[in-house]
Amino acid sequence: MVASRAACLLLVAAAAGVAAQSASTAANASDGSGATTVNPAAASGAAWRSRSIYQLLTDRFGGPEVKQNCSDLNSYCGGSWEGILQHLDYIAGLNVDAVWSSPVMDQGYHGYHGFWPFDWCEVNPHFGTAGSLKRMLEALNQRGFFNMLDVTANHVGYPTKGPAGLLYGTPFSDPAYFHNCTELSAAGVCAPDCGIPLRDFQAPGGNASALQEEQCRLVDLPDLNQSHPFVRQQLLQAWPAFMVQSYRTQGVRVDACNHITPAFAYDFLTSWGGAWAICEVWNWKPSRLGPYLQARGDADYAFQNYLLWPALRMCFARALPEWPGYPFNTSCRLIPAAKAELRSLGQDLGLMVNFIENHDVARFLFLRPSLAAYRNVLAVVLLDEGIPSLYYGTEQGYAGGSGKIPGGGENREPLWPSSYTTSGELYTFVRMLNWYRNNLALWQTNSTVVYSDDATYAFR
Ligand SMILES: *[C@@H]1O[C@H](CO)[C@@H](O)[C@H](O)[C@H]1NC(C)=O
Ligand SMILES: *[C@@H]1O[C@H](CO)[C@@H](O)[C@H](O)[C@H]1NC(C)=O
Ligand SMILES: *[C@@H]1O[C@H](CO)[C@@H](O)[C@H](O)[C@H]1NC(C)=O
Ligand SMILES: *[C@@H]1O[C@H](CO)[C@@H](O)[C@H](O)[C@H]1NC(C)=O
Ligand SMILES: *[C@@H]1O[C@H](CO)[C@@H](O)[C@H](O)[C@H]1NC(C)=O
Ligand SMILES: *[C@@H]1O[C@H](CO)[C@@H](O)[C@H](O)[C@H]1NC(C)=O
Ligand SMILES: *[C@@H]1O[C@H](CO)[C@@H](O)[C@H](O)[C@H]1NC(C)=O
Repeated sequence: MVASRAACLLLVAAAAGVAAQSASTAANASDGSGATTVNPAAASGAAWRSRSIYQLLTDRFGGPEVKQNCSDLNSYCGGSWEGILQHLDYIAGLNVDAVWSSPVMDQGYHGYHGFWPFDWCEVNPHFGTAGSLKRMLEALNQRGFFNMLDVTANHVGYPTKGPAGLLYGTPFSDPAYFHNCTELSAAGVCAPDCGIPLRDFQAPGGNASALQEEQCRLVDLPDLNQSHPFVRQQLLQAWPAFMVQSYRTQGVRVDACNHITPAFAYDFLTSWGGAWAICEVWNWKPSRLGPYLQARGDADYAFQNYLLWPALRMCFARALPEWPGYPFNTSCRLIPAAKAELRSLGQDLGLMVNFIENHDVARFLFLRPSLAAYRNVLAVVLLDEGIPSLYYGTEQGYAGGSGKIPGGGENREPLWPSSYTTSGELYTFVRMLNWYRNNLALWQTNSTVVYSDDATYAFR
């Protein structure tokens, strides 16, 4: 049964005493054929290691009514949880066995992507009801998929665009719950509007300090103060407990991890009732990534592979237009270098989540419209060490760029104009690669770099 909004409000009001559901039960690691029902209670990294993730944007994947192209990619296009249910065969046909969908919380100002949570106790009515969300998640489990819910602990959205609408929401309704912009700008830590330029941390050579990343506002979003006792309690106990009780999930993806401290990230990533979590540290510098890796200790969570990603793009696309003006090294030697760096930081590469594109960056075919190059890089993402994450639309050859930096909407095309065709070259290619990954159980072995030079990367 879906816990109600009243239950969520009660949890946040009681502000204590709710033990997150203990979920020590290991998930039934299926064979990837999609035939085994998943134990919905939890899943470990060991159970995730064999998985292949399909990342979709709920608003853009499908819906009962959607027929036309979307006229405004910066607002809702009509996708829904019901729409995901209607296309389970399409997803399963790619031989993926996990689905990462958009954050479910109700949004303020047209947060069609889900990253501007305003009422954390309510689901986004544009996507459906709490009941339809639950049905979708259960249907995926019954087909053998793991679910990955997308969550954030860094910020809240705003109800309307502009400074007048900056605050508040539920349960973060008090200005005292946020990093104090007046103080931070007066101290010169943040800009006068408390923003932090994205290129200062996302670009190679970005020079933002840890304090700036943690306390300044990411794309102007009110920045939660995780040192405040109420905020801490909500984010580490009440809200995860509500989410786990309501929706159960085998995985959690934590947005904007490098904008909360490594210690708080540890606490948040381990608050999900036994679901395995991954952390988005979008910062290329080992000096920034390192503390997050170290803070983990022996805990069972992992990271999106933001060190391998630029190396893959530079080697295979030979471009990274998100950050004009930076001197780029396009050598394919960057790939083994990134892997070596991660190993030296103590990472199990088999649990890093690899990708070539996602909702924040231009699609590969926008950078380099070469199907041959795309197939090559997809082979690395899907067959090399790590858990692959395939961004929806890849299989249809989508080529949207990022209009704003980074990611405005052009890379978030609706899928329905593709008619969900399963006969295209990329759909069948991805299907085949995942078949090999599953049937050769590639996750059981480490890969070896056979050869690399400035223009070549070969592994087995
Ligand atoms: C996992 O699923 C298989 C196939 O349905 C079943 O035989 C097995 O008992 C399950 N294992 C666990 C631990 O639930
Ligand atoms: C923020 O800091 C300023 C300056 O110290 C103070 O006047 C203001 O009350 C603080 N705001 C909040 C919400 O605490
Ligand atoms: C964050 O909250 C803590 C504890 O309430 C407080 O001491 C600190 O000044 C706050 N930081 C900012 C930047 O507002
Ligand atoms: C980082 O460098 C840019 C340009 O070189 C500069 O404008 C910016 O102020 C620097 N940021 C920090 C946090 O030092
Ligand atoms: C590019 O990166 C590779 C791998 O780290 C390194 O071997 C090479 O020297 C770099 N090239 C330049 C021009 O910096
Ligand atoms: C949707 O837009 C794309 C790009 O403009 C176009 O190629 C395609 O034909 C359109 N599809 C429909 C169904 O209108
Ligand atoms: C893969 O590498 C890791 C760390 O380097 C090592 O612990 C593990 O035993 C290796 N696995 C296999 C199957 O060789």
